[in-house]
Amino acid sequence: MNPVEIIRKKRDGEELDPEEIRWMIAEFTVGRLADYQMSALAMAVFLQGMTPVETAALTDAMTTSGSLIAWGDGSPVVDKHSTGGVGDKISLVLAPLLAACGLRVPMISGRGLGATGGTLDKLEAIPGFRTDLSLSELQAQVESIGCVITGASDEIAPADRRLYALRDVTATVSSIPLITASIMSKKLAEGLDQLVLDVKFGVGAFMKTELRAVELARSLVRTGTRNGVQTTAVITDMNQPVGRMVGNAVEVDEAVRVLQGEVIDDVSELLFALGIPILQNSGIAATFDDAYRCLERKISEGSAFEKFAEMVRCQGGDLQQLPGRRHSRDVLIPQHGFVGEMDAQVIGQAIIDMGGGRRTMLDKIDPRPGIEVLVRIGDPVDMGQPWARLYNVDNNDVAEQITVQLTGALTIVDQSSDPIETILETIR
Ligand code: URA
Repeated sequence: MNPVEIIRKKRDGEELDPEEIRWMIAEFTVGRLADYQMSALAMAVFLQGMTPVETAALTDAMTTSGSLIAWGDGSPVVDKHSTGGVGDKISLVLAPLLAACGLRVPMISGRGLGATGGTLDKLEAIPGFRTDLSLSELQAQVESIGCVITGASDEIAPADRRLYALRDVTATVSSIPLITASIMSKKLAEGLDQLVLDVKFGVGAFMKTELRAVELARSLVRTGTRNGVQTTAVITDMNQPVGRMVGNAVEVDEAVRVLQGEVIDDVSELLFALGIPILQNSGIAATFDDAYRCLERKISEGSAFEKFAEMVRCQGGDLQQLPGRRHSRDVLIPQHGFVGEMDAQVIGQAIIDMGGGRRTMLDKIDPRPGIEVLVRIGDPVDMGQPWARLYNVDNNDVAEQITVQLTGALTIVDQSSDPIETILETIR
């Protein structure tokens, strides 16, 4: 096959044959296709898009560029993926919760991307916690305790790793077919029966509008289903952080409190919205109410927290050593009124600026800095009331700079507005 002709076809808006897509990815994976040709194809896809058949072929080619996990007989194998959001600690709770319900959960997660934190960075706030398990370690842990949360090893979808690095530096990240193939190739390699996706939109998300989020969700669901995994997507709002805590160690602490029964409104809503379809589709629960009760019971009887603690121990972590919270300072409401908007992106960026995220690939993360968000959009507020609380910021100048940054994150309005709905719709 001729790579120049394949690039030209896509550039001119023609549909590629699945065989042409497979050949390009196979050649790229073994280093026989130059990065500049793959980049040119990525840009052509970015500009021209892909049909569902092309997207499925790209996803399949990227999935089979590495190992596929094969599971023996046993309970259904399931996973959840989020497109990423500020304060999003749902995976930390949902993986052990679903395992406590009897499912097998091989969760392969990622690191922070831009202002959104990553599940692996959060878990690494627990001293000793390993996120670099090999595929055989991953499989053994799932078979023995039911769940694992670890990073993608080189064995999983290596074509995605190489292509993502090129997309990152060629302005081709935000293309729906490329995002679909990237996310789904890693999930399909896990050998799943069921997948639930949290597709977020808003200021703190990858997809800025609900329309784009729905478009991405439809593409993800269609591609998962075509490739043999029952896939459900939930469209959720990301215009304010998930829960109250933002930052690595403080989010683990909040996840633990939820696992121990504390109810934090939007966190609980997300847990149920994402957990219920998995329990129903995998036959663990016959009805919506059964699924709801199962999730609720596993939390209230303590087995979900026990499962989390077991997972942490198996992966070498010591939960007792999780860094604590030392109050540094409060950010105050500047005038009376109602919370109109909250820029979750600014809050996520503040964590990076306090050392809790990366500016370059080589940066080392300090897990301790945290922000507690004390208000929600729509709340009535008084001048001088604290709305954000900074934790573990050792340097006063940094604390001052963050206070100024955060002041710009909140808009106070005169009229009350309706509180934001967290869950918008479910796409099957
Ligand atoms: N997450 C991924 O894994 N890939 C993308 O392309 C975007 C988000």
